[in-house]
Amino acid sequence: MTAFPGWIARETPDGLRTRLEELDSAILDDRDTTLRVHYSSINYKDALALHGRPGVLRRHPLVTGIDVTGEVLTSRHPRWSRGDLVTLNGAGLGEERHGGLAGLAAVDGADLVPVPEPFTPARAAAIGTAGFTAALSLLALRRHGLTPADGPVLVTGAGGGVGSVAVALLAASGHEVIAATGRPDALRGRLTRLGAAHIVGRAELDTGGKPLAAQRWAGVIDAVGGHLLAGALAGLRHSGTATTCGLAASATFPGNVMPFILRGVSLVGIDSVRTTPARRAAAWQLLARHLDPRLLDSVTRSVPLSAARDAATEVLAGHGTGRTVVDVRAH
Ligand SMILES: NC(=O)c1ccc[n+]([C@@H]2O[C@H](COP(=O)([O-])OP(=O)(O)OC[C@H]3O[C@@H](n4cnc5c(N)ncnc54)[C@H](OP(=O)(O)O)[C@@H]3O)[C@@H](O)[C@H]2O)c1
Repeated sequence: MTAFPGWIARETPDGLRTRLEELDSAILDDRDTTLRVHYSSINYKDALALHGRPGVLRRHPLVTGIDVTGEVLTSRHPRWSRGDLVTLNGAGLGEERHGGLAGLAAVDGADLVPVPEPFTPARAAAIGTAGFTAALSLLALRRHGLTPADGPVLVTGAGGGVGSVAVALLAASGHEVIAATGRPDALRGRLTRLGAAHIVGRAELDTGGKPLAAQRWAGVIDAVGGHLLAGALAGLRHSGTATTCGLAASATFPGNVMPFILRGVSLVGIDSVRTTPARRAAAWQLLARHLDPRLLDSVTRSVPLSAARDAATEVLAGHGTGRTVVDVRAH
């Protein structure tokens, strides 16, 4: 048995509580591969779980953390050997299986992705579920036929994790990017450096309930939902595609069928958790090809394991900016 630190959620008489505890390896799930975790990260779901909020944890007690990056300690899976550097996003980690905000993790080898060149393990963690989801969103837009020649792509929640990586990835792969943010003045410089050609205040997307607006963008990557998604659809060009992955503003949106039936637009859902191994590999290849590690560094900060919950507080307040890596070995 090996002791390791981890953020674990437990049901208490006062409700769900998440604390940093010294855990025993006997708690780990029975999976074919055990990792020594180097890094995890703070995504919106992690922020909820670290604060004992409902909606993420499907069982308890449960070690939190939907991302894990580290080295293989033992594996019964034919692809992996001791010492391999690997990363994994979602796949039930931190929701229904013990997750990555801890020193050890047990995972399915079939889901693992090698940390690809040019990324280090810390940078793979900086990408994390948020960046992985941005890549899945761009892959979905491409599957629906979007090319850079079709016109600009709108990114909502551009200051957040999904949004920041989406802006950088789209711009680096040749798309003109319109970044929508609630903090246009504060984030103008950062979003411009990531590659945004235009920055709009999120209020500009509110059509006041009108289902159709001027056709401004050929694609949308939305992580926010609510009125912004409705506004994004209202401004989508004929035959354009929008992806929806998040609910930072709201899980509902005041939608209308008009953009679908008068402009033939498509709305595609993105689920990073239950992604097939082939699509995981494709998303990471896209990131490796296009995402400049230095740009990633410019929107990343690192905190020790003990500071994970404090970092999560900002994300829950809607003030999260870019990506937060959790250095699990520094605690
Ligand atoms: N489907 C999936 O597989 C999947 C994967 C990853 C993430 N997600 C979801 O995607 C969403 C974003 O994740 P994230 O990691 O990017 O979170 P994040 O870093 O907290 O970013 C969310 C951004 O949304 C904007 N925002 C926050 N509150 C808002 C509000 N009330 N109204 C309008 N905009 C608001 C803010 O950007 P600005 O200040 O720039 O406007 C914020 O930075 C979350 O809901 C998350 O659960 C889903």
